[in-house]
Formats: sequence, structure tokens, C-alpha cells
Amino acid sequence: MIFPLLTQFCPETGEVKGVTPQDRYLDKLAGKFLDDLAYRQAVQNGNPLVYSVSSLESAHGDGQLHYGIGKLMPGKIGSEYYFTFGHLHAHRPAAEVYVGLSGQGLMLLQHEISGETQVQPLKPNTVVYVPGYTAHRTINTGANPLIYLGVYPAQAGHDYGIIAQKNFDNVVLEVDGQPVMMDRREALAYHSNQRIQKNQRN
Ligand code: NI
Repeated sequence: MIFPLLTQFCPETGEVKGVTPQDRYLDKLAGKFLDDLAYRQAVQNGNPLVYSVSSLESAHGDGQLHYGIGKLMPGKIGSEYYFTFGHLHAHRPAAEVYVGLSGQGLMLLQHEISGETQVQPLKPNTVVYVPGYTAHRTINTGANPLIYLGVYPAQAGHDYGIIAQKNFDNVVLEVDGQPVMMDRREALAYHSNQRIQKNQRN
């Protein structure tokens, strides 16, 4: 046992002692948000930090675990909440547990083969089980950073390819102040209606 067995972190900031987080700025999410005009404006307007992950991947081999603390900032592009890129595990059967530490959010889960989609709350005192073969994305629906812990098998690996090609079938938009999951096509129609209504008001 040569690697450190203890990790200290701050549940409000997601900072992990001795670990440099990997930062993901908005320009890494090109083509993923519904409102491309609002997206491009936000990138030009300072390209904000959307999320960072501090990964602890010290142990390797069968039965070992990796884990990471994620920090997802609050914010929206149009009416779509900030989210992480999302991934499948390279080793498809690998599951994961997510534990909410602070903030308010959701996990979007989509089974790779059946396409079945679910949203589950991610917030303090909740654990979300992500089965194998399931693409997962974290969404911040609150006003503060969403901080969470993810624990996964050491052999899981990350596969971003399918999300890069196809994104998720569903989106989560703010409608009358509340998060609502919609099919992407339905959401595009909703979004253009909002734009027409806005133009009519001006
Ligand atoms: Ni994962």
C-alpha cells in the first residue's frame, strides 16, 4: 500500500488536497447546447469555466477503485442548464456511484442499447447508481456549484466518442423556473417558439 489511502476535500468548493483539477471551459462543449447562438456569445464573452474534476486513480487492476470529485458551476446557455460533457465507460459493464455533496442538480442517464433515459436528482444525501452500458451527464439546476463524488472500477475508463457524435437524446431546460426534461426535437421546437414570442414582445 504505497499510495495515500486518505483524501481530504472541501464539500463546498470541490477542492481536493494535493490534486490539481482538470478544468473544462465552455469552448470544450461546442455543438452540445441547444441554443448555438447563445453558446457562441457566451464563449466570446469570456469562455467561462463550466466544470472541473479532481481524479484519484492511484490503484490499478481487478477489484480496485478510482474516484473523483466533480465541481459543476451554476449557469445556463439560453434556457439549458450547464452540464458536463458526459461519457460511457470504455469497459461497458462498469457501473459507478455518484454521491451528492453540495448544490442542486440532476444526472441524465441514457442506456446505450435500449436508449432508455432517466433523470435522477443529485444533491446532498442522495446516491445515484449508474448501471453499466449507461451514458451519464451531470446537470447543475441550482444557484451554487454542484459538488459530487463519483466512484468507479479502476478498469472502467472513459469513452467520450458516442457523446461527441450523438450527444444525449434528451435535454433539461428551465421552464417557468423549474427543470424540465424534454426530447431534443421537442426542445428545439420549444426554443424557437420562445424566440418568436420574444421577438413579438420587442
Ligand atoms: Ni463515469
